[in-house]
Formats: sequence, structure tokens, C-alpha cells
Amino acid sequence: MQIVAANLKTNHTRNTVQSYLGAVESYIDKNEIAARSVVFPPMSALCQSREKITIGAQNAYAAENGSFTGEIGTEQLEEFAIKTLLIGHSERRHIFGENLELVKRKFDFFSLLDYEIFFCVGEPIEIKEAGFEVVMTYIEKQLDGIDLGYSRLVLAYEPVWAIGTGKTATTADITEVHNAIKEIADKPLLYGGSVKVENAAEIMSLPNVDGVLVGTTSWLSERYCQLLDAANGINK
Ligand code: 13P
Repeated sequence: MQIVAANLKTNHTRNTVQSYLGAVESYIDKNEIAARSVVFPPMSALCQSREKITIGAQNAYAAENGSFTGEIGTEQLEEFAIKTLLIGHSERRHIFGENLELVKRKFDFFSLLDYEIFFCVGEPIEIKEAGFEVVMTYIEKQLDGIDLGYSRLVLAYEPVWAIGTGKTATTADITEVHNAIKEIADKPLLYGGSVKVENAAEIMSLPNVDGVLVGTTSWLSERYCQLLDAANGINK
């Protein structure tokens, strides 16, 4: 089953997330959607998962609670029974300076607590321009020290140059990197970076692509539902 994950980033409010989830839920019910739906709302709109929509957190700190201004820990996640977490998103790494050590510390902490972890990797443009081998060395470094045998691990390949730019990676790029990552880790592997309604089915049909992690296109519930639709009929 393909995973279609919506990263709402810093968009939507408590109110609009509720209507978004309502619209998606009724779409799933009416249309026999075969894909798994996962939605990462902004922190202020965290809520319980719905029967057919898993709610995950975009970020959390590696602590139960404490003095970590601006962060949330497991105490706040547990209020909503949230057990799914995004770690290593490129915006966390590049805008907020999360380094390899911090990302690994988060992974270690939340994997010990049996969280489902969506772990993102991906290279910036200058690495991409240096060629495939350099790209894989970069990604291997991001995965260094991460327990790739962890049972609740989902990987996401999100090339930084493709995120929010409208420049989707080519199917050849995706295939090359996904094949190589699958050799390192036999885990569900999503592609993210300018996934659109028009290219979602083609991307999800590629071997070694187990779903998509989507920003911009997922922000309107109608478009997100079309992405769920695109996953229907893909039998891998
Ligand atoms: P876009 O779909 O806007 O490129 O964002 C991708 C992403 O960062 C998902 O986590």
C-alpha cells in the first residue's frame, strides 16, 4: 500500500485543519482509497488520528517535558496519542540548523519509545551537481548511526533543490537514488519534492517508491485527495 503523506508545514489553523481532515476522511470513505493517509499539521493544530488518517508531528524535542522553549516533547504528543513523527526534514536541518548529531539524538530517543519515524534525507543543489556518487555519500552520512533495522522506520528522499521549487526530480533521478537507498535500508521509501497532481501517479509507479511526502500540493484538501486517488491502482 502506498503512503501519501501531507506535510502542511506552517500552513492552516486549528479550525482549517479540522475541516481539511473532515473533507479528506469523507473522500476516503466515499472513494475506496487504497493508499495510507498520513497528515502532519502545524503544532498548534495537533489532534488525534482519525480512523483512516494518521496524524503525525512535524517536529518534537527529544524529551518528555522540561525547559526547551518553543519545543514540544512526548507529554504534549501523548495528549493527542500521537506516535508518528517527522525527523530530519531539510527545513529543520537548513533553516533551524539541526545538525547530524541532533537529528540522530531525536531518532534514538523516539525510536526507543516506539514512535513511527518518517526520516528525511536529501542533498542540496551543489551536491547534486557534483554527481551521483557524491549524492550517495551525502545521504549515507545523513543515515550514519541511524538504526536502519528499526521496525517503525519510513524513509523519505527529499532532494533540497526540489522542495517548494516546482522542480520535481526526474524519474531517472528518483530511480537512481531510491535503488541505492533501498540497498542500504529495506524500508518503505517515499519521494518528496514538488510532487504534483500531474506527476504523482508516475512517481508512485516507479520501482522502489512506496509513496510520496508532499508539501505545497497537499495544502488544499481537494488536491491532497487527488494525490490519494493517484495512488489507487498502483499495485506493487
Ligand atoms: P513541496 O511538495 O512543497 O516541494 O515540499 C516537499 C516537502 O518538503 C515535504 O516534506
